[in-house]
Amino acid sequence: MDQSIADRDVARQLNVEPYWLPFTPNRHFKSNPNPRLMASAKGAYYRTIDNRLLFDSLSGLWCSPIGHGHPKLVEALRRQAETLDYCPSFQISSPVTIRLAERIAAMAPAGLEQVFFTTSGSEAVDTALKIALGFYRMRGEAHRFRMIGRERGYHGVGFGGMSVGGMVGNRKMFAAAMLNGVDHLCHTHRPSEMAFSRGQPSFGANLADDLERLVALHDASTIAAVIVEPVQGSAGVIVPPLGYLQRLREICTRNGILLVFDEVITGFGRLGENFAAQRFGVVPDMITFAKAVTNGVVPMGGVIVRKEIHDAFMSGPPHAVELAHGYTYSGHPLAAAVGHATLDVMEQEGLFGRARELEGILEATMHSLKGEPGVLDIRNFGLAAAVDLAPSSEGPGLRAVRMFERGLEDGLLLRFTGDTIAVAPPFISSAAELERMVETLRKLIRTVS
Ligand SMILES: Cc1ncc(COP(=O)(O)O)c(C=O)c1O
Repeated sequence: MDQSIADRDVARQLNVEPYWLPFTPNRHFKSNPNPRLMASAKGAYYRTIDNRLLFDSLSGLWCSPIGHGHPKLVEALRRQAETLDYCPSFQISSPVTIRLAERIAAMAPAGLEQVFFTTSGSEAVDTALKIALGFYRMRGEAHRFRMIGRERGYHGVGFGGMSVGGMVGNRKMFAAAMLNGVDHLCHTHRPSEMAFSRGQPSFGANLADDLERLVALHDASTIAAVIVEPVQGSAGVIVPPLGYLQRLREICTRNGILLVFDEVITGFGRLGENFAAQRFGVVPDMITFAKAVTNGVVPMGGVIVRKEIHDAFMSGPPHAVELAHGYTYSGHPLAAAVGHATLDVMEQEGLFGRARELEGILEATMHSLKGEPGVLDIRNFGLAAAVDLAPSSEGPGLRAVRMFERGLEDGLLLRFTGDTIAVAPPFISSAAELERMVETLRKLIRTVS
């Protein structure tokens, strides 16, 4: 039987009621799920159950840069499942996991030498925050407990990540349970000064001085860490002004505050380098990662930690656990095997270089949307870009939802936050595919208000 007919039959029999979808308007989804049901994926495209091909404009959720169904990943997963499908990460380990830690540490800036594995980006963030707290406790400075995040930051949905995060929609429902002692830097998106910047805005290095304000307010001796996304992804590709991250680093160093880069989306080539730290020439004390490390095929995340931070924990009796933290699936062998295969493919196919080559094309095509109806700002960096749209007269968010739904009819899977559309296409995309993606976006912007 034709596969698409078989898939359609499956869809007819689905009972969607028991499934509570994350970050989704469930009632709207369930009123008409079929256009949103994916049957398969290959390369840069999803195929829906009714056999439409959709260009994957955000590489899944920023996590599938080498495209879907890569045979080397499929083979690595199969082989690992046959050999060692699971192994606890407490007290024992496996060579495949240990080798992946070594490999990731070698990709990080010098000085960041230890890797702690988690299963997701949210867990990676919470792990980094706990390591920062533990570090100062081990050093006899437990009074350093404050965490500083940034407005519009997204650091996942754990209690730690939500607290240092700065997206109000993700915070307001849980306001009663925010971590104690968290404060936020101001965000860096200043449209009046930087709208339609190509790459890093030249205005705004001094916005990093907001950290001086928080140091003056709380005193440095109470602050453990600052956590920022080098490029804010979920808020809509907010690019750091030239010199901003350097200044943040300098203020942290001067005040003995740890700097954490949350590289869950910028890690592993999205900016054309291993990490944003290398692209921007700023070395943090910890890097969180997830998503692209396994191309999204098996969940995995982690934290890369500066050696001195790790070493501060290595005291006490040798049989005692130094950090009482970890997950059942930390360093999962299937994830580790797929991690190796992903990094192999990225190296063998020169995909970070490819991302760099495509960056200029994405910049030129996305900025050609300037002047289209209701386009308020366009930003880009690495193989990522976003466009801010004036909301529908019926209310905020509706225009982007309608564009998303129209995009599903026009062969384009879009990602939006509010009325901002973000794109981060797979590294394997061709220039023609990027051009087509932007032309579809143009059509949607012109026809959906
Ligand atoms: C910067 C950043 N940190 C953390 C997370 C959370 O990752 P996860 O959804 O894997 O928990 C995300 C997810 O988009 C992210 O973009």
